[in-house]
Amino acid sequence: MEGSSSMLDAEAVADLVLLDPLTEESLVQTLQERFRRRDIYTYIGNVVISVNPYQSLPIYTPEKVEEYRNCSFFAVKPHIYAIADDAYRSLRDRDRDQCILITGESGAGKTEASKLVMSYVAAVSSKGEEVNKVKEQLLQSNPVLEAFGNAKTVRNDNSSRFGKYMDIEFDFKGEPLGGVISNYLLEKSRIVRHVKGERNFHIFYQLLAGASPQLLQQLKLRQDCGHYGYLDREGSSLPGMDDAANFHAMQDAMRIIGFSPTEVTELLQVTAVVLKLGNVQLSSSFQASGMEACSISEPQELHEICELIGLEPGTLERALCSRTVKARDETVLTTLTVPQGYYGRDALAKNIYSRLFDWLVKRINASIQVKSDKQRKVMGVLDIYGFEIFQDNGFEQFIINYCNEKLQQIFILMTLKEEQEEYVREGIQWTPVEFFDNSIICNLIENNTTGILAMLDEECLRPGVVNEDTFLTKLNQLLATHKHYESKETQNARRVTDASLPPRCFRIHHYAGKVTYNVTGFIEKNNDLLFRDLSQAMWAAQHALLRSLFPEGDPQKVSLKLPPTAGFQFKSSVAMLMKNLYSKNPNYIRCIKPNDTKSAMVFTPELVLAQVRYLGLLENVRVRRAGYAFRQLYGPFLQRYKMLNAQTWPRWDRGDREGTEVLLAGLEFPAEELAFGHTKIFIRSPRTLFDLERRRQERVAELATLIQKMFRGWRCRTQYQRMRKSQILISAWFRGHRQKNQYKQMKRSVLILQAYARGWKSRRLLRELKSQCRRHAAATTIAAHWRGYQARKTYRKYFRSSASTCLANFIYRSLCKKYRDQLSASRRAQLQARLCASELFKDKKTLYPKSLQQPFRGEYLGLKQNPKYQKLHAVAKDKLVLADSVRKVNRASGKTVPRLLLLTTEHLVLADPKAAQPKTVLSLSDIRGVSVTRFSDGFLALHLKEVSTVGAKGDFLLVSDHLIELVTRLYQTFEATTGQALPLHITDRFSTRFPKGDVSITVVESPKASTNGPVCKKKGSNKMEVLVY
Ligand SMILES: Nc1ncnc2c1ncn2[C@@H]1O[C@H](COP(=O)(O)OP(=O)(O)OP(=O)(O)O)[C@@H](O)[C@H]1O
Ligand SMILES: [Mg+2]
Repeated sequence: MEGSSSMLDAEAVADLVLLDPLTEESLVQTLQERFRRRDIYTYIGNVVISVNPYQSLPIYTPEKVEEYRNCSFFAVKPHIYAIADDAYRSLRDRDRDQCILITGESGAGKTEASKLVMSYVAAVSSKGEEVNKVKEQLLQSNPVLEAFGNAKTVRNDNSSRFGKYMDIEFDFKGEPLGGVISNYLLEKSRIVRHVKGERNFHIFYQLLAGASPQLLQQLKLRQDCGHYGYLDREGSSLPGMDDAANFHAMQDAMRIIGFSPTEVTELLQVTAVVLKLGNVQLSSSFQASGMEACSISEPQELHEICELIGLEPGTLERALCSRTVKARDETVLTTLTVPQGYYGRDALAKNIYSRLFDWLVKRINASIQVKSDKQRKVMGVLDIYGFEIFQDNGFEQFIINYCNEKLQQIFILMTLKEEQEEYVREGIQWTPVEFFDNSIICNLIENNTTGILAMLDEECLRPGVVNEDTFLTKLNQLLATHKHYESKETQNARRVTDASLPPRCFRIHHYAGKVTYNVTGFIEKNNDLLFRDLSQAMWAAQHALLRSLFPEGDPQKVSLKLPPTAGFQFKSSVAMLMKNLYSKNPNYIRCIKPNDTKSAMVFTPELVLAQVRYLGLLENVRVRRAGYAFRQLYGPFLQRYKMLNAQTWPRWDRGDREGTEVLLAGLEFPAEELAFGHTKIFIRSPRTLFDLERRRQERVAELATLIQKMFRGWRCRTQYQRMRKSQILISAWFRGHRQKNQYKQMKRSVLILQAYARGWKSRRLLRELKSQCRRHAAATTIAAHWRGYQARKTYRKYFRSSASTCLANFIYRSLCKKYRDQLSASRRAQLQARLCASELFKDKKTLYPKSLQQPFRGEYLGLKQNPKYQKLHAVAKDKLVLADSVRKVNRASGKTVPRLLLLTTEHLVLADPKAAQPKTVLSLSDIRGVSVTRFSDGFLALHLKEVSTVGAKGDFLLVSDHLIELVTRLYQTFEATTGQALPLHITDRFSTRFPKGDVSITVVESPKASTNGPVCKKKGSNKMEVLVY
């Protein structure tokens, strides 16, 4: 393993904890040797020391990212990726918010380090369309903020002129959700002034170099840097920095972050306004009162600015050249001198730019902020301007160095002081390590009553004559005896001669060295005041963005309250930052600048030694060596690692400490590696911790496999059991179904068999019975024959020839009786009617033989079926014997008319066929007799008794097609009703009684057959001839 072999390389140990002997020289030598080998990263435990190589090294490739991903911290070469990975894993797996504190002086590589951390985290966190967008937005915030917030300084070509703290927020899976950027005090004085050899903020050069001619025209700018008072020609291009390309990259980045084209245009317009403000020239003039005044000497630039921001030029001119002063209730407009005018102009430019920068950060935050309210974990990356010592240090350096002092304090507190205090607290045997505690310096600056910042604020707010001299005097009075404060006056008081400390200056002994601050500008910069006229003028502009930057310019919202001072604001934001950092698990990257010339691979030991000293690296190594790399409360520790020991896994019922002891005893670590505090377990080397973590991972993997195995087994078993149950159910149903079918089939078969058997048995029985019957009949016949034979034999002598006839007759009768017995009632009635007919007509009337073929139907009219005869049917009711149509012979003319004849058991009814109404109803007892001819005609005379009611009408002459049947039925009915035989005359001559007297009727045989039956002809008044055939 490369990492571990280089760890033990005595000349260039990768972890300075292993350095032997441990001296400042050996430490610097080791760093130098490693630097020579291009190993720019070195550890002190888990603090990374990064030495700026000033050249690009091939150690940030995707392959390297893969190499460090999920790899044990000490298994690979020291790298910034290793600490980023460790922090990320701790955040993801242990749910601990992290912060990465990158410190070092200007140009040491902090910004580069922060970008490397961010790009590593972006590379190793999960991928997906949404996540990638978030990552891209987070990463792209860098070029935008660098363009507006970075500048070339003598120490660094890309020096951050603002402090940046970025919280990257992750969800529980470690996927980046978004972030929040906080910015700290932009060095806005750079807008109007910068040291020779330095540049203004990159954006101005980028804009002029990269904007298209159309855009420049739109912004009313010229490409020439030298044209602008706030820029300088020499700085127009920097070796190794392509401003035009950076401008395009910045524009792309803004698009990716989500800036709208309008927002970009407005942003550039405001930037152009700042640049152009520097070109607004003032000249002095005198008023009539003799007061000095200033005026715009070259109005062109002012007009262009006003055009860009949509403001009336007069308003801006007035605001730049005069000032409204409120005295009691009066408002007075006073003119400004030229220097005052320039002061106002520059203050305006600085204010516009710094507020624009704040807006930019807010706008980026709006894009990258986390939209969901999921639970988040946070990794903060702090990249703040490095410690600065210049020839001439002003308010900005004072503020920057104060911030660095605070960061050093955090480092001391967390790694040196707190650590040692904890050992004592926990009762771990400990020899204290000496280190410099910079709390005294922090207190010197920030103390609320005696701190430099508090005194500065006091001076700013104090009425009366206030200037830097009074401020310095006050400092000298109050801090005369402070160990870390010096000034000409305090030196004089101590009788120290020091030519390096000029007047109007004070010196602070910072942790990183002594810095002499010139108080000039302290009051003004701390007040950070902008003439109200100028903010009102800006608010009056139509430019939406610019207007929004000056809300206090709204005359409605005029407030007489002074805004908080710059120092106060910075102090409180630093305090907030510190509170935030304290709440997180710190990870340190300490950047070292190897040379002052920004040269690749040049290592100046003296320079590095100074940094090693003030960064307190040696003390860091000492504490680290003597101390323990890791500590954790027994409870969480046991919880995390309990799976490593069979006794503690899966449940430990006794105390946490005891459990931890049992757990670690089983792991057999060397005794010196572990210390048991009152509440925490301490592990000396990170290696042991990593070993522990590795074992845990292996065990977790094993346990996961076990759980998977058990789960899979359980799943398969339950599935199998479910299948089995289903299968049993299906089989049961199927078997049941089959059995039922089989049973039905059997039942059917049995029934068939039974049916056949029963049938067979019945038939056999029937056969048997039949044969018995036949046998019986045969026996009877035989017996009869036998008896007959016997009787004949016995009685032969008594019977002679007539006996057989008598016997035959007897038999015949007996057969006849038998025949009669089996006749049905209707058939019997028929035959009786036939018999009666034969008795009445046989050999007496020629019609008789013909009638034999015609069956006696009785009902020829269909009374029941035909609704027309309903009435007649009602008359006949159930007593009907015969219904037929007949013709009635007119007694006067001899012509016939059709009639319906109904014979009932009591009456004989004649009805009109059309009306179907009875015309004549005769009681049978009224009938005296009937006469018919000898011939085959249907003529008949119905003689009525004279006494009867109808009899008065006389006899009826009728012709019927069923004469034989009619007369027979009448005869039978008459006999049945009256108990007497109806007198029937079959004759050729008979007398009828008509109302007009008796008529004798003569039957004459006609040779010609008449179709309509007999024809009656009236011959005289009492004679009628009936022609028959
Ligand atoms: N790891 C690195 N590899 C190659 N070059 C580097 C690396 N780190 C820093 N540099 C170089 O050093 C220069 C300065 O680095 P950087 O801007 O990060 O310094 P800084 O510590 O942020 O300074 P300041 O406090 O002024 O912002 C970079 O522009 C780059 O050229
Ligand atoms: Mg930087």
